[in-house]
Amino acid sequence: MHNAGLYEEISTVDDIPEALRDAIPSREPQNRRDLSTLGIVIIGSLVGVVAIAVGSISWFTWQASQVQLLEVVPEATKETKSSRTMRTMRTMVTTAMISPAKTTTPATDALLGHFPYSEATGSELAPIVADGSLKLRKAAAAEFLAMVDAARMEGVNLVPISGFRSLADQEYLFFQIKAQLGQVSTERSEVSAPPGYSEHHTGYAVDIGDGNVPATHLSPNFERTAAFKWLQANAAYFSFELSFPRNNPQGVSYEPWHWRFTGDRHSLETFYKDRQK
Ligand code: DAL
Ligand code: ZN
Repeated sequence: MHNAGLYEEISTVDDIPEALRDAIPSREPQNRRDLSTLGIVIIGSLVGVVAIAVGSISWFTWQASQVQLLEVVPEATKETKSSRTMRTMRTMVTTAMISPAKTTTPATDALLGHFPYSEATGSELAPIVADGSLKLRKAAAAEFLAMVDAARMEGVNLVPISGFRSLADQEYLFFQIKAQLGQVSTERSEVSAPPGYSEHHTGYAVDIGDGNVPATHLSPNFERTAAFKWLQANAAYFSFELSFPRNNPQGVSYEPWHWRFTGDRHSLETFYKDRQK
């Protein structure tokens, strides 16, 4: 009681020391304030923890969904622009490495409409006339002689005019005759191949005449002869074909007398491999 009176007295009397006046009466409100502050701090902390927890869960959930998404969407959808560019470049480099660019038009090294040919060697040739002055490559020679025999059986006289020709032979035919006739190169090349470019070098080409009409030898008029008509109907059975028909893509003059053999792999490759005709 005494203490309570003192308290009441102190609390109501103005003449007590100021320090005491302020200290005692303010004790209860301070406690309440401290409690309130503590509560706010605790609640705030709880809210913060909850917020952090919710945020973390949300973030992890979002991350998981993104990973899931990446695992199920197509590869192209996952790409960024830069990774797509890199992938495109890698594809281009790889493609270039394993697939060299192909030329659409094979190089032919043609000269004035004529293709280059190698000279057959002597051992590859066989005679097609009794005196041995005319020769063809062996397989072609055998078929040519068989064709001559077949034509003769039908009253047609096939005669060989020219067979294998060397580079020197063609040198004369192209340059010497060109000079004698006063022809320019393009004009000469319509009827004669430059040396190194004649089918006659191969031993597969043969100029054929009608033995009954010599005046048509090496002339377009040969097409009117029985020999030519027979050849047209039968040469393919012996694997011979006309090299320079009318309007041939090489631009060579029509030569109804000039036939070539394409009856085996070597001869076929000689005339057709990597060529556009
Ligand atoms: N007359 C043909 C084109 C040649 O000279 O080979
Ligand atoms: Zn010829």
